[in-house]
Amino acid sequence: MNITIRQLKVFQKVAILQSFTRASKALYLTQPAVSMQIKQLEEAVGLKLFDKQGRQISLTDAGDEIRLLSDSVLQQIDETQHQLEQIASGDRGKLRLAVATTVASVATRLMARFNEQHPAMSLHFTVTNRNGLIQLLENNEIDIVIMGLPPAELELDTQELMANPLVIIAPPTHPLCDLDRPVSLNTLFKQDFILREPGSGTRLAIERFLNTQGRTLQSSIEMNSNDAIKQSVAEGLGLGIVSVHTVTNELRQGTLKLIDASGFPLHRSWYLVQRKGKRLSLLSERFKSYVVEQAKLISPGIDSS
Ligand code: PGA
Repeated sequence: MNITIRQLKVFQKVAILQSFTRASKALYLTQPAVSMQIKQLEEAVGLKLFDKQGRQISLTDAGDEIRLLSDSVLQQIDETQHQLEQIASGDRGKLRLAVATTVASVATRLMARFNEQHPAMSLHFTVTNRNGLIQLLENNEIDIVIMGLPPAELELDTQELMANPLVIIAPPTHPLCDLDRPVSLNTLFKQDFILREPGSGTRLAIERFLNTQGRTLQSSIEMNSNDAIKQSVAEGLGLGIVSVHTVTNELRQGTLKLIDASGFPLHRSWYLVQRKGKRLSLLSERFKSYVVEQAKLISPGIDSS
């Protein structure tokens, strides 16, 4: 069936108004132009679409079918046009965001608020460790990443967002909490630690710090989840070194405490990262600006200078 959208539009108007004259006025066309469109449509369909009794017209059975078709096609065109307008204005589109595990709770808060202003966006959100993020960037599978220390080996556009201090957490009754002066590294590193897995940016930062101090940890348990580390520390399995952003609730509630030790907190930052030259949708650009603006308002809760 070789029919055009223009024919469907003219047909729909004639069917609604039940008059060639009224349809031609509504469409700002001459009546012969309307008749021509209907004639061509009938030729394409191979059947009459209107019955004429005097000045009255009504739809034939074939006309009823074409009415269903025109209503649904023209409605879809309207909807698509609306969606394209929203994409062009940055109100609609896909937001493909991946963040380091330490960023997850801050990022979900930001996304929820951004989504309130952009309810038509579709969100693809990945939480993984540093190695996972590097893989996504390498494979060009992600638009925006928020992570600590961007990898030097990839060509990236990066923008520093905010401080991400790494702190030592302990159960509140631990003897190294609440001392008058910072705990020495000698004392600290005699403790048992629960560390993040290799491939984690948190782990990398700790290893770099240990290297600069010429030290190793005496014993360590590995876990690939900040939540599991927090719970294990609270249960007394060992001390943890985690992003302060992952323990804000526990510190407020007093279920975990910080240990003040020389050299700590370890100063890290989060960065907004994307592949160099990657073209982002207007929606993704808006999200980036929103994150940059909001990051200024989020305090890490401890002195990170
Ligand atoms: P990660 O996150 O330990 O989950 O890799 C570290 C970071 O980049 O903040």
